[in-house]
Amino acid sequence: MGVADIGIDLGTTSVLIYTKEKGIILREPSVVAVSTKTGEVIAVGEDALAMVGKTPDRIRAVRPLADGVVSDFHLCEYMLKYFIRKACGGQTLKPRVAICIPSEITQVERRSVIDAAISAGARKVFLVDEPMAAVLGLGLDISRPCGQIVLDIGGGTTDIAVFTLNGIAIARSVRRAGNAFDQEIIRYVRSSTGLLIGERMAEEAKKALSSVVSPDPEGRITLKGRDLRTGLPAKREISHEALASWLSEPLEEILNLLQQTLEETPPELACDIYQNGIWLAGGGALLGGLPEAVTQRTGLPTHRPEDPVACVARGAGLVFDQAEALEDGVLTPSMYRY
Ligand SMILES: Nc1ncnc2c1ncn2[C@@H]1O[C@H](COP(=O)(O)OP(=O)(O)O)[C@@H](O)[C@H]1O
Ligand SMILES: [Mg+2]
Repeated sequence: MGVADIGIDLGTTSVLIYTKEKGIILREPSVVAVSTKTGEVIAVGEDALAMVGKTPDRIRAVRPLADGVVSDFHLCEYMLKYFIRKACGGQTLKPRVAICIPSEITQVERRSVIDAAISAGARKVFLVDEPMAAVLGLGLDISRPCGQIVLDIGGGTTDIAVFTLNGIAIARSVRRAGNAFDQEIIRYVRSSTGLLIGERMAEEAKKALSSVVSPDPEGRITLKGRDLRTGLPAKREISHEALASWLSEPLEEILNLLQQTLEETPPELACDIYQNGIWLAGGGALLGGLPEAVTQRTGLPTHRPEDPVACVARGAGLVFDQAEALEDGVLTPSMYRY
């Protein structure tokens, strides 16, 4: 019995590992906690996330991919190795590993992702571009001359791509996504109520919002933080309606990019998209009312899969059989010299 091939979404917010046989076998935040004195890693994933915003001076909680500093890249390698071993521990045969990495990553960093996976036990490493992984994970057929569009809203970036004939016709990206919503909440809560809240509180509020399009008029969320006037711990009640209005600006930016991409799409492909609608992926797609907002803006049917966060890992895990056929977005071991 061979070892399952695994697909990995090395996301800026979370890391997921998928196998065809078992589905998602690991889902952890991409966070590493390190000692500021020795540089030693203290915790990875869930345990490290619990420390974000709460670390004493001697510990630093880092998001090695989101913070984007090259000097933290060895932490990214460490984290990748740690998760591969955690997910595949006990397996004696070496798996093939397909990894999806954020598009901004440099050639040198790509190289070190490959090395990290090999040293964690991978037999072969495939690198998959995020939009390609997302569309495969959604299970869409892109082999025919028929356009499909995917809107992937992650933590740091939103990626939009149009696919046809196993390739990418158009790809656009903007550095506004889920985290931008959190930042807007922090900013508005501060300026309108004088309460300073942390990123995790802001994210909690965002997840609790019923809908950005038609917020529940009765809906209320309690936020806890520090009162800027008294300096003491305090809480405030916020309406869903206020929350929804605070999110409108980053949401507009994402919708504008979508509209722009649709405008740049050749008419024949646009015609297919009119039929097929818009597919959503990424954690940001879980924002309450997002499919309605997309439909309202574009007039097109919008589909949100049951688990949009898992799409990219699933797509990476399904790439092995199709890698040869795909025109774009996959780097196979035969394409890089090891
Ligand atoms: N239920 C939810 N409602 C709104 N946003 C969500 C929800 N769940 C996750 N998110 C957001 O999704 C983003 C992370 O998406 P993900 O696809 O995991 O990102 P990445 O590709 O950057 O790793 C975060 O900003 C997170 O707050
Ligand atoms: Mg992602």
